[in-house]
Amino acid sequence: MQVVITGAAGMLGLKLVRKILDKGTLAGPDGSQVKVDRIVATDIVANPAMPTDKRVTFVAGDVFDPALIAGLITPGTGSIFHLAGVVSAGAERDFDLGYRVNLDGTRVVLEAARKLGSAPRVVFASSLAAYGGDLPDVITDEQKLTPQTSYGCQKVMGELLVMDYTRKGFIDGRSLRLPTIVVRPGKPNLAASTFASSIIREPLKGERVICPVDPSAQMPLLSPRLCIEAFIRAHELPGSDWGWNRQLMLASVDASVGDMAAALKRVAGQKAYDLIEWKIDPMIAKIVAGWPKRLSSKRALAMGFRADPSVDALIQAYIEDDMPKAG
Ligand SMILES: NC(=O)c1ccc[n+]([C@@H]2O[C@H](COP(=O)([O-])OP(=O)(O)OC[C@H]3O[C@@H](n4cnc5c(N)ncnc54)[C@H](O)[C@@H]3O)[C@@H](O)[C@H]2O)c1
Repeated sequence: MQVVITGAAGMLGLKLVRKILDKGTLAGPDGSQVKVDRIVATDIVANPAMPTDKRVTFVAGDVFDPALIAGLITPGTGSIFHLAGVVSAGAERDFDLGYRVNLDGTRVVLEAARKLGSAPRVVFASSLAAYGGDLPDVITDEQKLTPQTSYGCQKVMGELLVMDYTRKGFIDGRSLRLPTIVVRPGKPNLAASTFASSIIREPLKGERVICPVDPSAQMPLLSPRLCIEAFIRAHELPGSDWGWNRQLMLASVDASVGDMAAALKRVAGQKAYDLIEWKIDPMIAKIVAGWPKRLSSKRALAMGFRADPSVDALIQAYIEDDMPKAG
């Protein structure tokens, strides 16, 4: 079976490629495990860390290019993981680019999947940016989707496309609303939430970091490790477990930025903690204040999706999985 991953050179995409290589099989159309012979990994940029495994073919290109995508999602494709996207601040800064990649690109992927005529499984990476406006302290599965950013609107529209293409029998789709993924390895990105990783990652390296929000700022978090586990679980569950509702808010560990700094102190000591400099950036603080603060993700937990047990565990996962080893 062939698996297509868009956004494969990104932080989550690359981890997903590795995970599927390790696993070796995925659920096929009838639910039984089928060997993955080929992973078509595509992204607009290349990543030198892409595995050189003979099962992986990397193709550089724009997800908005229908000819390119139709040439990748070819007969024999049983599964598609659609992760390509322009992240929050990027889509807010460039309105046209955000719509072209996040909405039109999603439609291109779904149309190519539809043309197969075999209803492949499609997992779509959505976001908690789907929520916005006057939010209650705790978001439940019943919360209305009222995004207040272009990125959030584009993700909600993507989720609706996945629902409708599934209802029509064109695909077997599943959308996951991801919390902020922490700790993100590498460098800061264009997401407004990037500081949530930086305040852990840089002090662990012995580097100073500026935290642009107050310690009381609250956010739902998920480790890359459990996020990848969630992509696989979303794919593997039979369609009957999803029913008509193909949208899912994942579970999270909910923490204040102060809790995150305290966890860093417990895991890496006072010296690491002291490397955080608190300097409020009113623009970032305002964006963060509008985000969901706590999640009650009953449906995700009932479906077997997991949250990290604590912020300490989330930091530990980064140290084990991603932190560059000394020497
Ligand atoms: N990391 C998070 O905290 C988080 C939270 C919620 C949702 N998400 C979503 O999960 C997905 C993956 O996130 P990530 O953290 O790996 O982000 P990332 O930025 O590391 O990866 C996204 C990838 O999409 C690629 N891309 C951008 N424009 C493209 C285009 N025109 N054509 C093809 N590829 C293009 C980028 O090059 C990048 O490699 C994204 O869709 C993101 O919106 C992430």
